[in-house]
Amino acid sequence: DKGGWSSFMAKEISEEPEALEATLLGRVHDGLVVLDEIEGGFPDDVLRGVDRIVLLGAGTAAYSGLLGKYAIEKWAGVPVEVELAHEFRYRDPVLSEHTLVASISQSGETMDTLMAVKYARERGARTLSICNTQGATIARESDAVLYTRAGPEVAVASTKAFTAQVVALYLFGLHLGRVRGALSDADSRGLVAELQALPAKLQEVLAQGGEVREMARQMSDTRSVLFLGRHVGYPVALEGALKLKELAYIHAEGFAAGELKHGPIALIEPGQRVFVVVPSPRDSNSLHPKVVSNIQEIRARGAYVLAVAEAGDVAVLPFADEVLRIPLAGPMFEPLLAVAPLQQFAMELAAAKGLDVDQPRNLAKSVTVE
Ligand code: M6R
Repeated sequence: DKGGWSSFMAKEISEEPEALEATLLGRVHDGLVVLDEIEGGFPDDVLRGVDRIVLLGAGTAAYSGLLGKYAIEKWAGVPVEVELAHEFRYRDPVLSEHTLVASISQSGETMDTLMAVKYARERGARTLSICNTQGATIARESDAVLYTRAGPEVAVASTKAFTAQVVALYLFGLHLGRVRGALSDADSRGLVAELQALPAKLQEVLAQGGEVREMARQMSDTRSVLFLGRHVGYPVALEGALKLKELAYIHAEGFAAGELKHGPIALIEPGQRVFVVVPSPRDSNSLHPKVVSNIQEIRARGAYVLAVAEAGDVAVLPFADEVLRIPLAGPMFEPLLAVAPLQQFAMELAAAKGLDVDQPRNLAKSVTVE
């Protein structure tokens, strides 16, 4: 039941704030993350002995994994690799009992991911499943499960499951950081509070849906869109591009903004549409001026720039053709806000082209064959 929405995708995007809330529910006590449910497979002493984490998934799930990498390395100080599940098991990955392999899957039935989990297990790694479907095969094949609680996702394009996966990975990173003594309780509490503030902020972002629709309608004959982001904005750029490909059948690529001058800038010609996910100007890594200068570089070559930028960021105004705003959030949490307009954009562009938003051509919701 679409509940009055024009598509399941529209409904599921609107449910993102509750998906985040539900994924946090019962997992925060006294301002700190408590993940009792993974203790069977991953007691604290096992978590303290982990020397490497491999995150596996396909498509959108792999992009949530990329965000998990930034967070887990920062908060827990453990090296993290993200790998496409279908690549992982066809090479000879180095695994040991100290390797934690975490799979990410909405359906929990993706064959590529399932086979990779089995492969990792056979080679002695411990496996954690981040899954949205209760009792799914991948969950049953893993040593422990951390469920995302996004609720059923019907549209082929993943939206609320993605944001819930990121939250689950962040919860895991916060838990690991504290168990390993890498994060103080005070720092943990601050980060948990940021997480808890997200649903309301996301609601604000989603309220700009009308603006995004207008933008998409004006671009319905566009043949190519590029997406740029840096640091945690980079996975957002990849995800924005994937959404546009799968829904609107438009050629779209996501790039790390720092990579521009190493090749992709050659693609820029007058009228090329480019979304840029702009980091906060308050960001202490000072990536903001670097991304603003990327915008200037592509603008000078005729690009039409659509910026997703923090409220109050005036530095982008002289160079961006259109600006979508996101509320202030800590640097690690911006992607959970910035991805929503890109999801909406892909959906609206597909709708403007008269395409089936929920069931794009050639795709299945869950890929249960290799
Ligand atoms: O069910 P899963 O999360 O394992 O599915 C993985 C991918 O097939 C899935 O995310 C796919 O990329 C979506 N169609 C993206 O919107």
